Amino acid sequence: MTSGRLPRPVYLDMDPGHDDALALLAALRAVTVRGVTTVAGNQRGELTFLNARRVLRVAGRTEVAVRRGYDQPLLRRLVTAEQVHGASGLDGYHFQPEPEPSPDDGMGAMEWLDHRLAAEPDPVDWVATGPLTNVAAFLLGHPHRKRQLKQITFMGGSLGAGNVTPYAEFNTYVDPEATALVLSSGLPVAMVGLDVTLKALLAHGDIDRFLRLPGEVGAMLFGLFRFFGGHEPSANAGGMPVHDVLAVAAVAHPEFFRWQDVPLRVECRDPERRGAMTRVEGFPVTRVAVEVDVKAFFDWLWRTLEG
Ligand code: RIB
Ligand code: CA
Repeated sequence: MTSGRLPRPVYLDMDPGHDDALALLAALRAVTVRGVTTVAGNQRGELTFLNARRVLRVAGRTEVAVRRGYDQPLLRRLVTAEQVHGASGLDGYHFQPEPEPSPDDGMGAMEWLDHRLAAEPDPVDWVATGPLTNVAAFLLGHPHRKRQLKQITFMGGSLGAGNVTPYAEFNTYVDPEATALVLSSGLPVAMVGLDVTLKALLAHGDIDRFLRLPGEVGAMLFGLFRFFGGHEPSANAGGMPVHDVLAVAAVAHPEFFRWQDVPLRVECRDPERRGAMTRVEGFPVTRVAVEVDVKAFFDWLWRTLEG
């Protein structure tokens, strides 16, 4: 954070989701969260919308606006990750009481983003941690708002193996067309892919440390990640991934990462390789994280949560 100035303003687009929930909590402390839009991905749209509001209620931050985005990918049937995040999308913790009914005036994510970005004095960061359906749809429908966006940073894709198929990471698998549209939007795009997020594993024993956090947040994170550690397919003896948190870290501290500008193609035709990312000269260039300082990342995460 630059001394004397508020942390940078950030819009979040998420599909909570356990790691999205941790990313939201980190963002609430590390940057200035202007609002959250939710998208179908880890679970159906009505559940990811409820889950974002559940986490904000536990964090005592119900003043943060949450608006519901799309319930299905641009062109495809929704594939969820219920086997990872559970029937609620945030299994492992009993949210009681439920958040108050959303006070919004029924305004959906697209209209709300249009209004809010129009009022931004300077270009802002947009961090996406689910399928890029909302981001792509908004850019298609509101090209005049691109001037209010500084950069889109997303967790998704992989320069290596996938986690849904051998080729594709979940977010890009769910909506490859949306990913391709965002990469070719003409905006600066930064990608934190699976190959990097799998290097930053939260040790199973470290979830006890959540219990030291004040209030209900600690108990919530402990329950959520006790569940997640037993269901995330990439979890191993070394720990469990916290994929989406690295996208927030990439905005707050890009220096934790080594970046490469890569011309990326997203596979949208071949059913077997759907969502696969390949380096193809001549394609739009995306700034891709290729390494992460794992110690610096976790030192930051605990400092941010415990600070
Ligand atoms: O592949 C990991 C990504 O898919 C993360 O965003 C996780 O929340 C799931 O949405
Ligand atoms: Ca996610």
